[in-house]
Amino acid sequence: MTQVLHLDPEQPDQEAIERAAEIIRNGGLVAFPTETVYGLGADALNDDGVEKIFKAKGRPADNPLIAHVCSREMLDLLTPGVSETAERLVHEYWPGPLTLVLDRNPEVAKSVSAGLSTVAIRMPRNAIALELIRASRTPIAAPSANASGRPSPTTAAHVLDDLGGRIDLILDGGTTNIGIESTVLDMTSDPPVILRPGWITRGMLTEIIGFVEQATSGEQLQRSPGTRHRHYTPRARVILIERGPPEFIERLCREHLKEGAVGFIGHTRVAIEDPLFHTIQLRNRAEEYAHSIYSSLRELDAMNPQLIVVEGISDEGEGTAVMDRLRRAASQQLTGG
Ligand code: TXA
Ligand code: MG
Repeated sequence: MTQVLHLDPEQPDQEAIERAAEIIRNGGLVAFPTETVYGLGADALNDDGVEKIFKAKGRPADNPLIAHVCSREMLDLLTPGVSETAERLVHEYWPGPLTLVLDRNPEVAKSVSAGLSTVAIRMPRNAIALELIRASRTPIAAPSANASGRPSPTTAAHVLDDLGGRIDLILDGGTTNIGIESTVLDMTSDPPVILRPGWITRGMLTEIIGFVEQATSGEQLQRSPGTRHRHYTPRARVILIERGPPEFIERLCREHLKEGAVGFIGHTRVAIEDPLFHTIQLRNRAEEYAHSIYSSLRELDAMNPQLIVVEGISDEGEGTAVMDRLRRAASQQLTGG
């Protein structure tokens, strides 16, 4: 049985936090909200606990996890040294949606790093997450709390859908505010390399530490095992329209409606009157896309369409992270003339 406790995201109830912390200390699994997506947490120093995460999610063993900390002391426990450059990023963007890949101390459970000599660390900007880590008195390893390959969860209901019965407890703190996962920055290479784009953009990093590289896909595969696997996919096939005029989008949807139900997520208004056509309208803004894209994919998927068509946004600034996730979710990308 998976228990769900509802918490005030601003002022989490201490008794509930204490209950959750006890589960973590005893090697159990607790899902909790962060500012990005929900995480599935276990004690990052306890190998048996961390193994349970991989089992519950069906996650490939070669895909390492992020260790979440709430203090400087915890950071120092996990890594032998924080460079002056990393220090500046910590100062500027923690707590927040920035994960740093650093050298790893032997205390970190082996399965967290999946055999690598490095560990990914971040301090989340969410009161429930921070209180939980503090009360657990240990760093918490947590991937996104979805079944492996499914869209990341932005509500407790998403977590329950994917992992109900497989984990001990879900702390429900409402909808997460950013909606896509943190930026992952590898600090063990010079210059540092963005392994996964996120809400902290390349520009925001450059502003603080100068040049950072964006991993090319080949390189990314080597350095960030997670990017090897299929991601963020609903059950339906997904086509991403990188760019295209409204007529192109409409024609594409009509064409596919001949074969069955079609879902559409986009900022263009597509006027098709058909009971088999389901649309979710978003504003053409990275913020709104990030906030809604995973829940929209889940919502449409629940209607069992054979296809979901997603209209992309501009691939710059925060839009880069959104487009990264959409390209991973899609089996086909189209540009319409
Ligand atoms: O916003 C987030 O980052 C969320 C919340 C829960 O904090 N977590 C999250 O975890 O997205 P996950 O496991 O879904 O993604 C972690 C990513 C994966 O792509 C993984 O391969 C990469 O970080 N990663 C973890 N440790 C790494 C390491 N030592 N070196 C390179 N990449 C690493
Ligand atoms: Mg994930």
